[in-house]
Amino acid sequence: MSKLPPALEQLPSVWKRRHLLDLESLSAEEITAILDTAQAFKDATNDCRDKLSVLSGKTSVNLFIENSTRTRTSFALAARRLGADNIEFSASSSSLSKGETLIDTAKTIEAMQIDTLVCRHSAPGAAQMLAKNLDCCVINAGDGPHEHPTQGLLDMLTIRQHRGNIAGLTVALVGDIAHSRTARSNIWGLKKLGAHVIVCGPSTLVSRQWEALGVEVAHNLDDILPRCDVLNLLRIQFERQYTRPFPSIREYALLYAMNRQRMERAKEDILIMAPGPINRGVEVTPDVADGSHSVILHQVTNGLAVRMAALWLVNNVTA
Ligand code: CP
Repeated sequence: MSKLPPALEQLPSVWKRRHLLDLESLSAEEITAILDTAQAFKDATNDCRDKLSVLSGKTSVNLFIENSTRTRTSFALAARRLGADNIEFSASSSSLSKGETLIDTAKTIEAMQIDTLVCRHSAPGAAQMLAKNLDCCVINAGDGPHEHPTQGLLDMLTIRQHRGNIAGLTVALVGDIAHSRTARSNIWGLKKLGAHVIVCGPSTLVSRQWEALGVEVAHNLDDILPRCDVLNLLRIQFERQYTRPFPSIREYALLYAMNRQRMERAKEDILIMAPGPINRGVEVTPDVADGSHSVILHQVTNGLAVRMAALWLVNNVTA
């Protein structure tokens, strides 16, 4: 069992929230407090390997109504590494299939005296609705195309670790911006911490409306590439598209896949990121995804640290 460092002996003074629902409503100070807490957990636990007992006696439930590998597993591990119990809710074998509503399902689980509900759902606002109707802590693990706050945070933690600071960097989010909750959480978080954000992709997936969020809109990756410090390559979300937004996957890859030729025209120290899962050969070629500039698996480890921080922060605020 690792020893608790001084940074984790009390909550950061800015942190007052019992839910983590989005990055839009968080201040730069709150975002920085989560990142600092995640870094403290990472440092205190030998890169998130070791256990602490800071949440012993607490119970966290993963209520995932959409599929997940990274987010679900890391929330489960984060709870266990902090000494909490973690329960997995299986949507397909639950009473949702008999017509029970999401709120009735969540209230039923809450009545079993749990402390935190971690919710992923295809409907934007699902986690917000649960937070309004429940007494337990609620963490949004992705609500449709709206937000994925812990993904935005783990992306920022990864950038901070590799660049020292986020302010002043140019970060491009490339790909399926229209359907991406990761894009929205990255935009809110990165802008608040002072980065210049570019959203880049075909006009069918990146409309001019994004400029209202204070980001630069681009349709030509080759034009913006030399200016970028970080590329976050977002998956084409075929499952959320009713019509194909480009003529063929081959054509998309030709214009937007990060490949060896494009790496030669990028900054020498460019960071290649992807929230995952990746469509190899579509958003990024395997040699780049697995190459020396890629921090994709660092993002995964940082996901564990961020989820440890999120669980610890919301559980320690008194109602
Ligand atoms: N990035 C992400 O949310 O991955 P999962 O869908 O596997 O959780």
